[in-house]
Amino acid sequence: MQLRRLDSTEVEAVLAAGHLFDGDPDPARTEDFLSRDDHHLLVAYVDGDPAGFVSGMELAHPDKGVEMLLYELGVDEPFRRRGIGRALVGALADLGRERGCRAMWVPIEDGDEVAAAVYRSAGAGPVEPAGILLWSLD
Ligand SMILES: CC(C)(COP(=O)(O)OP(=O)(O)OC[C@H]1O[C@@H](n2cnc3c(N)ncnc32)[C@H](O)[C@@H]1OP(=O)(O)O)[C@@H](O)C(=O)NCCC(=O)NCCS
Repeated sequence: MQLRRLDSTEVEAVLAAGHLFDGDPDPARTEDFLSRDDHHLLVAYVDGDPAGFVSGMELAHPDKGVEMLLYELGVDEPFRRRGIGRALVGALADLGRERGCRAMWVPIEDGDEVAAAVYRSAGAGPVEPAGILLWSLD
């Protein structure tokens, strides 16, 4: 298994990994994402095939410094339970450390025990009692 952080020239690589995402990646949005220095997309390859990904963004605040938001994690079904999810989360945490982030956090759905287990196996603390409210700004 090989993990790679995709750079701004790799729109095609994201499109080729489209089956890993909730919806098909849009070329213009992909280009915009990859061009942002503080947005990160790491892809795991097995024998050259995209098997999983994690995305993260750095968030800054005057009193808190910079934190990494783990935005999405997905591993294709045939490749699950081989440690790929844990490796992707660990690699994003390493990248955050390299870039001076003071913490990493991820929202999870209530009762999603699998996600909680994967994140804990990659070093996260216990689930915090917090809810999320969402505005659609489209
Ligand atoms: C969650 C997901 C990313 C896990 O990926 P994965 O590569 O299979 O996870 P790993 O093999 O690295 O698992 C690491 C640890 O997490 C736990 N874990 C993973 N899958 C589990 C499952 N189905 N049931 C219970 N524990 C599980 C185990 O402790 C595992 O370690 P072990 O295999 O040594 O026991 C994958 O199942 C997935 O893509 N699911 C759909 C999308 C999703 O739920 N994303 C996360 C929330 S946004």
